[in-house]
Amino acid sequence: MTHPLLMDVDTGIDDALALLLAVRSPELELIGVGTVAGNVDPQLAATNTLRVLEVAGANDVPVAIGAAAPLLEPWADVGWIHGEDGMGNTAQPTPTGAPSAEGAVHQLLRLSHEHAGRLVIVAIGPLTNLALALRLDPTVAARIGRLVIMGGSVRDGGNRGAWTEANIGVDPEAAAIVFDAPVARTMVGLDVTMQTRIDDADVAMFAASGDPAAELAAAILPHYLDVYEATSGIRACAMHDPLAVAVAARPSLVGTRRLPLRVETAGRFTRGMTVVDQRGPRAARDDPDAPTTDVALTVDTEAFLALLRSRLTSGPPGAVRGIEAP
Ligand code: RIB
Ligand code: CA
Repeated sequence: MTHPLLMDVDTGIDDALALLLAVRSPELELIGVGTVAGNVDPQLAATNTLRVLEVAGANDVPVAIGAAAPLLEPWADVGWIHGEDGMGNTAQPTPTGAPSAEGAVHQLLRLSHEHAGRLVIVAIGPLTNLALALRLDPTVAARIGRLVIMGGSVRDGGNRGAWTEANIGVDPEAAAIVFDAPVARTMVGLDVTMQTRIDDADVAMFAASGDPAAELAAAILPHYLDVYEATSGIRACAMHDPLAVAVAARPSLVGTRRLPLRVETAGRFTRGMTVVDQRGPRAARDDPDAPTTDVALTVDTEAFLALLRSRLTSGPPGAVRGIEAP
């Protein structure tokens, strides 16, 4: 069964690979993309997304521009992580396509009606658009089949702060609205994404593949590897956003637990922390109304990386180029 997929992105480097994987995943039909201020501003995210979809042969997928800033705080550009252009400073050609006239929030609400109960949303940037959609029409929650969020952390700390992951930390108020909403959701956080790394050997394989999607990945990944090497001493970069797409396509790639989860918005040192309560009955007693989230705590790293590598180098779905991972 193919699921209709809407992605909400802040295209950046790992977002780009996630988009390529989505187009190459036969379990998913990418029917729209919304952009949000995060790695880059939403206009640049739309330009980068259009470029990626053009390379992937998915020019027909609409790209709608969303929120230009978080709900409460101003947006702060973090250009050094994904490059000033969001694509590893590779000066990609200007895409032929243009963003939709429709905004990302209205695109989300429209698609939720058109695919009521079946729509899969993969959110791989700050959750501002999702929160705005929930505020504009709270009934959207019941029409979302599954929401997969790349964000948060349970055990392994943060990347934007000691206990704050970037997508949640850019807009904690939006994240609190989304995680409090009655939506079937899965959180793919740093606990699992940091176990899914690729390196220069992958870049070389992508570059030699002859596949335009893999060649684009090979072009933009070196900057990301430089940043990881400079900040962690390890020249291997996490596939945060591609893992979220892979989980939408093959949920069995991760092991999850359904747990009460709240987003901290007031903590001086913990603002943007995803507070997961694993105390069982005591959690239910202390916060009986806490909404639950399926939190990914384990990942089949090798199965995911094999799937990512084979799909990025095997041409469009149905193309007999690569041998699909088991
Ligand atoms: O923390 C990782 C997340 O922040 C990824 O979505 C990456 O693209 C950045 O947006
Ligand atoms: Ca992202």
